[in-house]
Amino acid sequence: MRALPDACLDLIYADPPFNTGRRRAQGLPGHVFNDRWPGGVRTYLSFLEPRLREMHRLLKLTGTLYLHLDWHAVHYAKVLLDEIFGYDNFLNEIVWSYRTGGLCPRWFARKHDTLLVYARQRGRHTFHVQRGGCFRTDGMNFDDDGRPYKTTRNGRLYFHADGPAITDVWDIPFLSTVARERTGYPGQKPLALLERVIRASSNPGDLVADFFCGSGTTLVAAKRLGRYFLGCDASARAVAITRRRLSHTTVLDPRIEDTGTRKTPRLKRCGRKPASRKDATT
Ligand SMILES: C[S@@+](CC[C@H](N)C(=O)[O-])C[C@H]1O[C@@H](n2cnc3c(N)ncnc32)[C@H](O)[C@@H]1O
Repeated sequence: MRALPDACLDLIYADPPFNTGRRRAQGLPGHVFNDRWPGGVRTYLSFLEPRLREMHRLLKLTGTLYLHLDWHAVHYAKVLLDEIFGYDNFLNEIVWSYRTGGLCPRWFARKHDTLLVYARQRGRHTFHVQRGGCFRTDGMNFDDDGRPYKTTRNGRLYFHADGPAITDVWDIPFLSTVARERTGYPGQKPLALLERVIRASSNPGDLVADFFCGSGTTLVAAKRLGRYFLGCDASARAVAITRRRLSHTTVLDPRIEDTGTRKTPRLKRCGRKPASRKDATT
C-alpha cells in the first residue's frame, strides 16, 4: 500500500479478519487465515489503524471506503474511522442480513455483518441509487408493459419499474454449500454483495481495490462490471485462488453498466395477482 501514490483509487472494499479470536479454516488444506489477536481488541486495532490511514491516503476525493466487519470490532472501528475520515464523511452503516440457519437459545441469533461506508469527501463522492425487490404496498397493479402503478383518484400513479430504492439493510443470502461461485476459502463473500457495492459507488473504468482480497470476490465483481481492479492478500493460497477465478471471469458489456442499475432484473410481481384489465384502467 505504501508504494502506491496518493489519491489513486476510486473505491476500496476492505474485509479484514473480524477479531473473532479464532483460526478461520474451511476444511481444505491451506484454506486458512489467522484471526487470533493476543492482547485482544487493542492489538487488533493497532493492526487495523495504519491500514485504514493508508486507505484514506489512497482514495481520490470522489472515492469511498467500505469496511466490512461484525459485532466483534465494528464499534471500535467506527470511532477509528470517524477520526481518520472525519465524522462528517460517514455515509452509511449497512446491515448485511444473511439469514443462515441456526438457533441461539440464550440471545437473538447473530445473523448480520456491518459495512461502514465513508466518503473521502462527502458531497464529492460517487453514488448511484440501486433498486430491486418489491414495493411494500397494497393495491399495486401492472400495465401491459409490466410497469407498476397504483390507481388514485387522479389517475395512475406509476412506480419505478426497477423496484424500490435499496436502503441500508441488505438481504442477500450467504453462499450456500453448493453455490457455484463457492471456492472453499474461509470468509468468502457473495458476488451479489460486491456487485452492489461496486455498482453503487463506482463508474465503469474506475479503479477498485481490495487489500484483504481473500478468494478475490471484489476483483471478480469489478472485472465483470468493467472496472479496473487491484488486490492483495497475506495468504499465497488466497492469491492463487483469486488468479484462478479472474482467469475464468468474463466482462459484462460495459455499455449497459454505466448507470449501475440497468442490469438489475426488472421488478417481479412479488406474488400478487395481476389486476384485472378493468381494475387497472379505473
Ligand atoms: C475475511 S477474508 C477476505 C475474504 C474475501 N472478501 C472473499 O470474498 O474471499 C480476510 C483476508 O484477510 C487476509 N489478511 C489477514 N491479514 C492480512 C494482512 N496483514 N495483509 C493482507 N491480507 C491479510 C487473510 O489472509 C484473508 O484472506
